[in-house]
Amino acid sequence: MITKVLLPEDENCIGKAAAVIKSGGLLAIPTETVYGLGADALNADAVKRIFEVKGRQQDNPLIIHVASAQDIEKYCKEIPDTAYRLADRFWPGPLTIILKKRENIPDVVSAGLKTVAVRCPESEITREIIKAACVPIAAPSANISGKPSPTTAKHVLSDLGEKIEAVVDGGRCRVGLESTIIDLTVSPPRLLRPGGITPEEIKAVIGEIEIDPAVLRAVDGGIPKAPGMKYRHYAPKAKLVIVRGETKKAAEYINSHTAERTAVLCFSGEEKYFISPVVIAYGHERNDKELGENLFASLRDLDRDDIDIIYARCPEGEGVSLAVKNRLQKAADYNVVDV
Ligand code: TXA
Ligand code: MG
Repeated sequence: MITKVLLPEDENCIGKAAAVIKSGGLLAIPTETVYGLGADALNADAVKRIFEVKGRQQDNPLIIHVASAQDIEKYCKEIPDTAYRLADRFWPGPLTIILKKRENIPDVVSAGLKTVAVRCPESEITREIIKAACVPIAAPSANISGKPSPTTAKHVLSDLGEKIEAVVDGGRCRVGLESTIIDLTVSPPRLLRPGGITPEEIKAVIGEIEIDPAVLRAVDGGIPKAPGMKYRHYAPKAKLVIVRGETKKAAEYINSHTAERTAVLCFSGEEKYFISPVVIAYGHERNDKELGENLFASLRDLDRDDIDIIYARCPEGEGVSLAVKNRLQKAADYNVVDV
């Protein structure tokens, strides 16, 4: 199959993209977080293909993407007031809410759960496609399961080219990390995955929330509430080790462990301290948004056959740093060295 690349400025891009969804095909869609691998959320057969093409575990439910907050009533029930307050403040945007699902959402979407994850993405072209298709779009990140999520159409084509009908190239993703997920079916609401919307911002709208323990440490035994959070994720081929501590001490440690096939993922401004032949800076230590935007693209750049081990610097702060740290720790399988 040849994967068509649709550009927003192409004649009838929205119509062509919506036709792929309506005919039960797979369409990669741009969003402000990462590219999604979309199918008609109401068509169980189309959604099954998402799992096949990605190599995704069947027990890992999908997010449905809607064009506006008004649509949540069509697919969810017993909606608490907090859902409307969050949607009002953060949609369209990088926040996913979990609600009780209605019968029209097929079990394959929710992996058999009684709840469903819903998000209204910022990308206008994607919202127009959802409207034109007249159905919600179920979409996980458009990568092969386990790989870093795609933040450009090129990343999508490198993982899924020839396996899907089309990709809409909406340019680089602004946030670069998957959406924040909050479960509103429990009390207090529980943050299952950190992202571009921070816990502080959510608390300011709905008050106290809990952070799922799986957000910042490995869960063995304890089952994370977002099934997807238990798999190794976001990882390049090489082994990843986080080195925590002050720059010069980290450099001393990393340099003494550096060999030909070693690479470093560091903060901007630190590059000069490392002797490794491959050093990539992904942003300034205190600029959490910049780190988030570049993290996955940098991990993809380091996904090379000639690199066996990557030493990575990881931010410790709050805000979006929490999401960057969550993704890096998972990619490193919680392998952290303190210096
Ligand atoms: O930013 C995003 O959220 C992107 C774009 C495409 O919207 N999508 C995305 O989807 O990251 P995915 O499939 O890679 O991650 C969805 C996460 C998984 O960890 C999954 O287990 C969790 O959401 N999830 C989905 N439905 C859920 C539910 N009903 N209850 C708990 N967790 C759920
Ligand atoms: Mg994913």
